Amino acid sequence: MQRRPEPELMDEAQQALAYAEADFSRTDQALVEAILQRLQVSSLSVKNVVDLGCGPGNISFRLAEALPSRPLLAIDGAAAMLAPALRRQQAEPGRWPGLRFLQACLPLEDGVLSGLPLPFQPPFQLLISNSLLHHLHQPEVLWRAVRELGAPGSLVVVRDLRRPDSPAALEALVARHVSAAPAVLQRDYRASLQAAFRPDEVEEQLRQAGLSCLRVQAVEDRYLDVSGQLD
Ligand SMILES: C[S@@+](CC[C@H](N)C(=O)[O-])C[C@H]1O[C@@H](n2cnc3c(N)ncnc32)[C@H](O)[C@@H]1O
Repeated sequence: MQRRPEPELMDEAQQALAYAEADFSRTDQALVEAILQRLQVSSLSVKNVVDLGCGPGNISFRLAEALPSRPLLAIDGAAAMLAPALRRQQAEPGRWPGLRFLQACLPLEDGVLSGLPLPFQPPFQLLISNSLLHHLHQPEVLWRAVRELGAPGSLVVVRDLRRPDSPAALEALVARHVSAAPAVLQRDYRASLQAAFRPDEVEEQLRQAGLSCLRVQAVEDRYLDVSGQLD
């Protein structure tokens, strides 16, 4: 099935609200556990973390709780997606002391991070991203950010949807995973699956970005993971 890109930023208010209110807790928690497991295996001592395309902070809040003393910079380009994250943080001041949200678009402009306190500046030892890659019209933007924000030894964990082989396979995933969701979420899910990459396409992106140190793996019926330590 041909890739069909979708709009990059999720800046429609209704779309952002539907996403923030949806229950992704099972898959979000599974991803956080996978990240923590990889951290343990790497025996890396993580000083700071960056979450690229953090949206309403579904993964950022969970990870900030699991790694409470680490500064975690969560970046997204859409004000509408960051708004629920900021409201949640303001509602419980002090609960996530190391977590900081920043509105910025990839590719990051020069100097956009330089005004932040030092622990929120690169290099980051842990770089994560969930469901951003398929939004990007130029996927190399993510891999360039990984190179620029990380350092040798940094752990990278990127999870995204993977594009199904056929329209019938896509409809089967929609029926299996979002049949009870609001119409706007079903629309976005279908568009996201069509915009997603196949593992072989991501391998080629990594090769071109000089990131063959990262491994691509198909996960479950609809995800792909890119992970490893930077060389
Ligand atoms: C599907 S959401 C994923 C949100 C979050 N990572 C999660 O796990 O729930 C994708 C997010 O990527 C953001 N995004 C897309 N293109 C971007 C870019 N070029 N720079 C920064 N954020 C971007 C969108 O605004 C949206 O919030």
